[in-house]
Amino acid sequence: MRYNGILMKRHACLFVVLNLVHVLLWWNMGWAQTRQKESEQTAQYLTTLLNVGRLIVERHQPLINDHQKGDKGFTPESFEQHAVDEFFRQTSIDLRHPPAHLPDLAKELLPILLESSKHVVADAQLVINQRGIGYKNFIPATFGSQTARKFSNRSQVKMKQTTLNPRNLKNTPDVYEEEVLKRLASQSTSNGPVAEWVAGGKTLRVLTPIYYSQDCLVCHGSPQGILDISGYPREGAREGDLAGAISIQIPASTP
Ligand code: HEC
Repeated sequence: MRYNGILMKRHACLFVVLNLVHVLLWWNMGWAQTRQKESEQTAQYLTTLLNVGRLIVERHQPLINDHQKGDKGFTPESFEQHAVDEFFRQTSIDLRHPPAHLPDLAKELLPILLESSKHVVADAQLVINQRGIGYKNFIPATFGSQTARKFSNRSQVKMKQTTLNPRNLKNTPDVYEEEVLKRLASQSTSNGPVAEWVAGGKTLRVLTPIYYSQDCLVCHGSPQGILDISGYPREGAREGDLAGAISIQIPASTP
């Protein structure tokens, strides 16, 4: 009897321990899934903010390229104001007062990206305010590549503008990017972001495609091979063709 009692107690104990392990496993899985989802959302917000910056530069292009005007007033502060407003318009998120539901990772990284963008605008002030030159090579592409590079140097997240035959060799795709870009280029319709966990779930990779609009074709369109205003040979692209992608890598262990 006594022996049986001990056995029963042992069984009960085992039962409790197994249940605890079960609960912990579930809790862990739930936590890992939440983390994954947060990283995916963060990648989206970062891409949106980089694209917003490109858009702000595009909208100010006539001002930036004005050869008669000296001081353009396109300062890091004015850039920030426009970027914050446009980001809010697109996402309903106020970067100056981030809402509680924004993932912690996005709360940490969006300000770093905004700071990096402002630094790029600050570094270009001398060029932007130069009188007597029209085209200054401060365009969405140069802004985007430089901002992505600065941001990557300041965080554990890697961000980059890339394409299959880059003008700027710093934008050369890696093996993974090349494969996804080739797949996107072979599809006739425009696509949304491609997000995948690679290296056994250790790294999130997100490529958000960019397509050429009519405005891009003065430099990237026809006739192919003829130099554009920036001095690069035109690609002969048509409206709707894949221009490239914004590529983001987030390690799973990001705090
Ligand atoms: C004034 C000419 C000009 C216009 C207009 C222009 N681009 Fe570019 N684009 C460039 C230059 C110059 C580079 C290389 C920038 C650098 O040196 O980093 C470039 C680079 C790029 C890149 C990065 C990959 C690479 O080749 O290095 C992408 C993507 C891109 N452009 C897309 C676009 C899209 C989309 C538009 C229209 C919304 C556009 N461009 C409009 C001149 C232009």
